[in-house]
Amino acid sequence: LFAGPIAFLKSAPQLKFLPDPVVPEVAFAGRSNVGKSSLLNALTGRNALARTSNTPGRTQELNFFDVGDPLAFRLVDMPGYGFAKAPKDVVRKWRFLVNDFLRGRAVLKRALVLIDSRHGIKPVDTEILDMLDGAAVSYHIVLTKADKVKATELDAVLERTRANARKRPAAHPDILATSSEKGMGIPELRAAILGAVTD
Ligand code: GTP
Ligand code: MG
Repeated sequence: LFAGPIAFLKSAPQLKFLPDPVVPEVAFAGRSNVGKSSLLNALTGRNALARTSNTPGRTQELNFFDVGDPLAFRLVDMPGYGFAKAPKDVVRKWRFLVNDFLRGRAVLKRALVLIDSRHGIKPVDTEILDMLDGAAVSYHIVLTKADKVKATELDAVLERTRANARKRPAAHPDILATSSEKGMGIPELRAAILGAVTD
């Protein structure tokens, strides 16, 4: 499916603009600049499907991508959080949009929570994890930019992330290290997504 047709469907800045919930969906969450859009591009093998940028906070809407023809499932790029210069009303809007989406979207099968391999889970990530636990949405933790750390550092951050995840109410989320740049972990993540949307 990832080798077949994939197309941008629409951007939803508010819940009333959501597409009809007709197929399973997998959403990408993570702090701004963590590499959500890049990961989407790597998974789909398209260079410019989702807009990537060096400016944190570029994506402020829910962006929907149709996978398969006939349509099989959708990927949702969610707005990033935690950028330093975010105005208060942007943060408030993010919170409402994401929380309502997570709680109300019956077709949402899984979320991928992206965490920078160089930093691990930070306090700024706990709000989205709490929201996911509160909304009973199952999630995967995906370490990004693994090419930026040494193998020994990656092992250490994996171990720390595992320990951190064990303390959360959701039972043992899967943790996967990836690099959109080098293609590391991408086939494994594709398989995990297909598993989530077909079970
Ligand atoms: P927002 O839309 O602002 O929330 O950001 P985002 O999470 O979508 O991040 P984006 O994909 O735009 O990537 C941010 C920056 O990180 C870009 O400069 C990317 O080129 C870089 N980047 C993303 N993934 C990787 C990776 O696997 N390795 C390396 N080295 N750089 C990466
Ligand atoms: Mg983005």
